[in-house]
Amino acid sequence: MAQTWTPNSWRQKPIQQVPDYPDLAVLDSVEARLAKYPPLVFAGEARRLKSALANVAEGRGFLLQGGDCAESFAEHGADTIRDFFRAFLQMAVVLTFGAQQPVVKVGRIAGQFAKPRSSGVEKQGDVTLPSYRGDIINGIEFTEEARVPNPERQVMAYRQSAATLNLLRAFAMGGYANLENVHQWMLGFVKDSPQAERYRKLADRISETMDFMKAIGITAENHPSLRETDFFTSHEALLLGYEQALTRVDSTSGDWYATSGHMIWIGDRTRQPDHAHIEYCRGIKNPLGLKCGPSLTADGLLELIDILNPANEAGRLTLICRFGHDKVAEHLPRLIRAVEREGKKVVWSCDPMHGNTITLNNYKTRPFERILSEVESFFQIHRAEGSHPGGIHIEMTGNDVTECTGGARALSGDDLADRYHTHCDPRLNADQALELAFLLAERMKGGRDEKKMVVNG
Ligand code: PEP
Ligand code: CO
Repeated sequence: MAQTWTPNSWRQKPIQQVPDYPDLAVLDSVEARLAKYPPLVFAGEARRLKSALANVAEGRGFLLQGGDCAESFAEHGADTIRDFFRAFLQMAVVLTFGAQQPVVKVGRIAGQFAKPRSSGVEKQGDVTLPSYRGDIINGIEFTEEARVPNPERQVMAYRQSAATLNLLRAFAMGGYANLENVHQWMLGFVKDSPQAERYRKLADRISETMDFMKAIGITAENHPSLRETDFFTSHEALLLGYEQALTRVDSTSGDWYATSGHMIWIGDRTRQPDHAHIEYCRGIKNPLGLKCGPSLTADGLLELIDILNPANEAGRLTLICRFGHDKVAEHLPRLIRAVEREGKKVVWSCDPMHGNTITLNNYKTRPFERILSEVESFFQIHRAEGSHPGGIHIEMTGNDVTECTGGARALSGDDLADRYHTHCDPRLNADQALELAFLLAERMKGGRDEKKMVVNG
């Protein structure tokens, strides 16, 4: 029998990745303040996301999840959020129109601040300091002072999340996402963008379709789905004190929800079944993600699925697979077989970022061709196993950064220094993200045509 869950029962369990706060009384008082602040998202929204993800789990639809590796206080601003949202919408429209499947849109945004680290310390020359753990915990500057965890940063992160969410809601519901604007979303393209022409052609076809629909009486005025979009937020639930402070009872259902974001996920380093992060996540009703890396065994995964989704509800659990382009063929099939054999309902998503990080010219980078290769393998393996390749999880930005090598503009190791802005892992720039979306749309369409042939043949 599972033990009783409470929002703080995780505190009785072993825990990884905990910041070393110098003054626990200050931490307690910040958490107590946060516990009184308004929720950032509502239970009903999380339920709506769960039912959209349930459709994906059943093979109808695709999850697009992406955003910064780590949001930062320094880069918080309207332009950054707009540029991200626009790049994300471009990807979504390519996938929806190109692949003709509903796309569930989930940003890594408005709460993606805490970072797990492989090492607790960072060494530069002779100096060793505590690692940077994300702006919600300490500062990125390599000084002793900046690296001391400061609880007040949690309040800053909460306020930034609220402001970001406010703008995202306005973009999603207030006209920006209106499909009639599909050409205006092109304004963000950098000069000579290799994807611009491809995107313009697709936008032309969408406009033509909209004109036809208008002629028969279906307009953005009378059909909200043409002028608004559902956009959800997500982040890694790493800093559990913060999560607990924002865990609230939903008055409609009496259930507990994390109100820090619509979906939260468990990282690859904190998924021990008897530890704190799994304990916290099992008790809240939001849709959950679980990162699955090479060290996860099939039995280990089934054990986690039973803890996190005992009622086997579709939409509750998304498995975010992050093996690496050269390891995916070894690990993904065994996990798919175990999950399918036991009849577990999950969304299979591919994170082609975290298993493909290398160091080049002293920069952490990811070769675009390895990212594409992992995605290709993910699709092929699912086709071979008869399961649904349900989503993609990426680190991306709407800006023209130079953090991942390759892509249509063939960024090289020497280009990395130009605009390397990330606070943590290297992200796809807007062009690379769109290129990936076109490839995904082709693969998804291929799968659909194959299915039709089976049905008709
Ligand atoms: C991340 O998504 O930024 C991350 C740290 O991933 P993982 O837990 O899969 O390493
Ligand atoms: Co990352």
